[in-house]
Amino acid sequence: MQILVTGGLGFIGSHTVVELIQSGYEPIIVDDLSNSEIFILERIEQITGKKVKFYPYDVTESENIKKIFNENKEIEACIHFAAKKAVGESMEIPLEYYRVNLLSLLTLLDEMKNYGIKNLVFSSSATVYGQPEKLPVNEDSPLQPALSSYGSTKQMAEDILEKVSATGWLNALALRYFNPVGAHKSSLIGELPKGIPSNLMPFITQTAIGIREKLTVFGGDYPTPDGTCVRDYIHVVDLAKAHVKACEYLKQKKQNFSYEVFNIGTGQGYSVLEIIKTFEKVNQQSVAYKIGDRRKGDIESIYASCEKANDILGWKAEETLDDMVVDAWNWEKKYRSERK
Ligand code: WQD
Repeated sequence: MQILVTGGLGFIGSHTVVELIQSGYEPIIVDDLSNSEIFILERIEQITGKKVKFYPYDVTESENIKKIFNENKEIEACIHFAAKKAVGESMEIPLEYYRVNLLSLLTLLDEMKNYGIKNLVFSSSATVYGQPEKLPVNEDSPLQPALSSYGSTKQMAEDILEKVSATGWLNALALRYFNPVGAHKSSLIGELPKGIPSNLMPFITQTAIGIREKLTVFGGDYPTPDGTCVRDYIHVVDLAKAHVKACEYLKQKKQNFSYEVFNIGTGQGYSVLEIIKTFEKVNQQSVAYKIGDRRKGDIESIYASCEKANDILGWKAEETLDDMVVDAWNWEKKYRSERK
């Protein structure tokens, strides 16, 4: 089964392509390289021993998608990762976020409809929940108005998918990712943030390796057990496997068109300090940090209930926090040693 993976050279996309190949699927990657590197394609081929078809195209343009669908008649599903994803940046250039994140989805949907492709897996985010009143958060928990333009694009996209699926030609699954971290065990692919990382794990690994002087923990006075924010960190390979399960689910589904959302996390919340301490202990590597001010827009605590994904998709996260910090660190070390 051919599957079009937009943004397939990005952090989550590349790990998903590997898992798809290893489960017998034939992923086709489209990625405009705006926030990814072409060497990741070779690495995917190195890990899997398979050649992967790649298009360096922008998916906001329908001509590009038409070309791909014309050349690959066996495509039965699309996994749509291609999007802009920096929360802070999305507040500075909101129009660009709305343009890229929504136009790519609308263009893809238009062409899927034209070509009779009925199955879509969409990258959504736990950010749609805001600060939930009750934890763990499940798929029926109410959504809060989005604080960032990035979050707003994810909420709007989910809304679009729900309405389009209701017209009876589309099967769409939105996966709400919690905090993806870690890297492939081979250390051949991993997270490649451009410039100063805004996410916690790459900031930790870059501080440990000496690229950053010190990590600032954003806020030590939250009403959490140790005063720092709590998140549900999930290993990127577990997250990638959830996409394979999503494809299997769509494949065995008959003509019953629908839209469904799934939380994809571990169900376990860890504080920022717990992440740092675990990283230091497991990797025997210190991380310089200080407690600083709260970051604007941060919520204090969130973690997932993943029962729905477990019951319906038959998926469950398997990797531990120790695995996540080890794999993130091994990737950082290998990547930097090769660039010297
Ligand atoms: C995690 C925790 C920070 C950096 C965002 C998006 C979400 C998803 C993942 C996808 C928080 C703290 C961080 C630092 C710190 N996006 N932190 N010092 O904000 O939970 O989620 O990324 O594309 O949609 O909202 O992730 O990794 O930025 O932060 O103390 O230098 O680490 O305050 O508690 P976040 P994060």
